[in-house]
Amino acid sequence: MEEIVLKHPMIEHKISILRDEKTGTKEFRELINEIGMILCYEALKDAPLHEIDIKTPITETVGKQIDENDYAFVPILRAGMGMVDGVLRLMPNAKIGHIGLFRNEETLEPVEYYCKLPKNIENKTAIILDPMLATGGSGSAAIEMLKKRGVKKIKFLSVISAPVGLERIKKDHPDVELYTAYVDKELNENGYIVPGLGDAGDRIFGTK
Ligand code: PRP
Ligand code: URA
Repeated sequence: MEEIVLKHPMIEHKISILRDEKTGTKEFRELINEIGMILCYEALKDAPLHEIDIKTPITETVGKQIDENDYAFVPILRAGMGMVDGVLRLMPNAKIGHIGLFRNEETLEPVEYYCKLPKNIENKTAIILDPMLATGGSGSAAIEMLKKRGVKKIKFLSVISAPVGLERIKKDHPDVELYTAYVDKELNENGYIVPGLGDAGDRIFGTK
């Protein structure tokens, strides 16, 4: 399936602030969370609804609800943590799993260091969070880790993606739905997205 790219003036506006090297940690973190929430809103547009009886102050009626228990958010540590508050604003009762991966700076290959997932993850839709999809190595490895644990329905949310990363995920995992706020031009020789926004983890946590 083709990736879904958010096309909206507000996204362009917010991405431009994220790109600016002068943007500080607080604003950067707020914007990553906001875009995470918007991506999640888009990714939930096919969410199944069940009917519930409601008594309003005026009358009785039938409303519709999403079963939040059917979903788990799975941030890829560390930068994916920057999107968690945003998506929880939409689905505050969803469970959270954590996958720890970092890129080896020379080989750009992902290195796994942590995995803790909610009980019954195999029966939930897992929504992976990572602001940056560069080579796609980390994303593909995270999806593989979930599939090994029996997860069948996976969505992947990224703020900025490189075309090569999107192609990698589509090739390795054609069944995964990809939602990205913006597709950038290319990667540089160090595997950074160009023009990009730099190192998302460092900018979210203020480590450089
Ligand atoms: C960044 C980013 C992705 C990965 C993307 O994480 O958050 O997880 O790189 O690159 P890829 O698509 O080429 O694999 P990083 O390894 O810098 O770790 P961090 O989040 O702990 O800073
Ligand atoms: N990871 C980042 O944080 N930024 C990039 O541009 C590529 C990978």
